[in-house]
Amino acid sequence: MNILRKSTVFLIVLLNIQVGICQNQIPRLQKKGNRTQLIVEGNPFIILGGELGNSSATTIENMHFIWPKLKAMNLNTVLIPVYWELIESEEAKFDFSLVEQIITEARNNKLKLVFLWFASWKNSMSCYAPGWIKLNQERFPRIKDDKNRSHEILTPFSENNLMADLNAFEKLMSFIKDFDETNQTVIMIQVENEIGMLPTARDYHPLANEAFKKNVPGELIKYMQQNRNKLVPEFLDIWGKNGFKTSGNWEEIFGKGTHTDEIFMAWYYSKYANRIIEAGKKIYPLPMFVNAALNRPNREPGSGYPSAGPLPHLMDVWKAAGPSIDFLAPDIYFPAFKHWSDLYTRQGDPLFIPEHRFDNTAAYKSLYAIGHYGALGFAPFSIESTDEPENEPLGKVYHLLAQLSPIISANQGQGKPEGVLFDKENRETIIQMGKYEFTFRHDYTLGWSPGANADEWPMTGAIIIQTGEDEFYIAGSGVVVTFKHTDDDSVNTGILKVDEGRFENNDWIILRHLNGDQTHQGRHLRIPEGDYSIQRLKLYTYK
Ligand code: DGJ
Repeated sequence: MNILRKSTVFLIVLLNIQVGICQNQIPRLQKKGNRTQLIVEGNPFIILGGELGNSSATTIENMHFIWPKLKAMNLNTVLIPVYWELIESEEAKFDFSLVEQIITEARNNKLKLVFLWFASWKNSMSCYAPGWIKLNQERFPRIKDDKNRSHEILTPFSENNLMADLNAFEKLMSFIKDFDETNQTVIMIQVENEIGMLPTARDYHPLANEAFKKNVPGELIKYMQQNRNKLVPEFLDIWGKNGFKTSGNWEEIFGKGTHTDEIFMAWYYSKYANRIIEAGKKIYPLPMFVNAALNRPNREPGSGYPSAGPLPHLMDVWKAAGPSIDFLAPDIYFPAFKHWSDLYTRQGDPLFIPEHRFDNTAAYKSLYAIGHYGALGFAPFSIESTDEPENEPLGKVYHLLAQLSPIISANQGQGKPEGVLFDKENRETIIQMGKYEFTFRHDYTLGWSPGANADEWPMTGAIIIQTGEDEFYIAGSGVVVTFKHTDDDSVNTGILKVDEGRFENNDWIILRHLNGDQTHQGRHLRIPEGDYSIQRLKLYTYK
């Protein structure tokens, strides 16, 4: 008896220690099935985020107007820059008071933080480098274009540039570790911002020219050989067109042209970012990523878009040079949301959208990103710019996603959450889940929907999560859903029950039992356009 009691106590103590260790582990990425989850305080965490405008977090006074807006839109995370010029305005003298205040106020507002390290590069430029860097071009050299003209862009080929940035980043990570390891308010770091070379496809600084003449590093060749079957086709084509050579300089292996200049720069940008990340992770290993300004098709790198950023056609180069970079993230300001998201996830990498235009499509794209791609999170840019945060569709959708996050995460990696996204051109999606086939349509496809004859159809979307053989949660706005048995046409499918409700501390609370007109007398599930709701659906089959 005594022994039994003692061993029970021992087990309970052990269990508590285990739980404690798990909760104290710092934020990390973890695979679940075919998905990657961000784990915060021991649990999967989906970032319902927004990124602040560039100058909004430069004083704590200005932040006082912003926190309430973020809360009103139901964000759980805010992406905020840390400015190199403000933390190290004098060489080797660091001031983290603003960073400390931001972390403290984020905690008070129950918000997590993703810091953006605005240092060597912000949208290609080096505008956030402190004055002592800008004023000493001898020591901190800049890129040169093909006319030998310098620009306000630090060259990635200078060890001095790298070490100055890396040293400041190490200090930042030490500060975050000391101040935040227990609370874990800061959950990820973006290193630099939209890295990319302008106005030419490559740097013509003498250090760059020297590197350009050298052989392509063996490390890249090895990566290309080992991953030949899964290289992105755009990159494989370039290598193939030149005969799949395995030794030679950049132009010998990839041919002459701006495409080669871009590959060369991508390698060195990634190396630079990787060394900063490696050094930072040695101190405090939070997940760290880089983001990209997307390239418009058929434009030239350098003159038409920032060359060599972490772009889809260069993802192999970035991954080969940057093994410590956790993922590459797109800033999506173009309309083809699915196209860009498909490109970033085609090698099985996680999707995180640190910036999206804060327009009337963002809310629905957040649902789709999380439902369809299992995204780590979503964040419209300049999130504080709204004057009516409580009326923002994004806030309404985040309210649904916040309630659903535990069941989304629990079912991730097994194809059980899915998402749909509609407009007038894309108005129907068929989804198979378990033994059922769901036909989702835009709400305006219903003849009697008030907007059916409108010239413009607003974007709408939804997420579906399977929680049992016949049980599903569907949430979003502006969708209508019908059902059938996947592979037996002679079997009919009916609605057993639809409830509209909310989750409170993970308990499902029914607000309305939906039937009659709300389900078209048992024929469909509907969330009208302009409504935002979660509905629990139970199906059954009959002959
Ligand atoms: C993308 C950048 O990453 C942001 O910092 C900001 O400059 C926006 N563009 C402005 O549209």
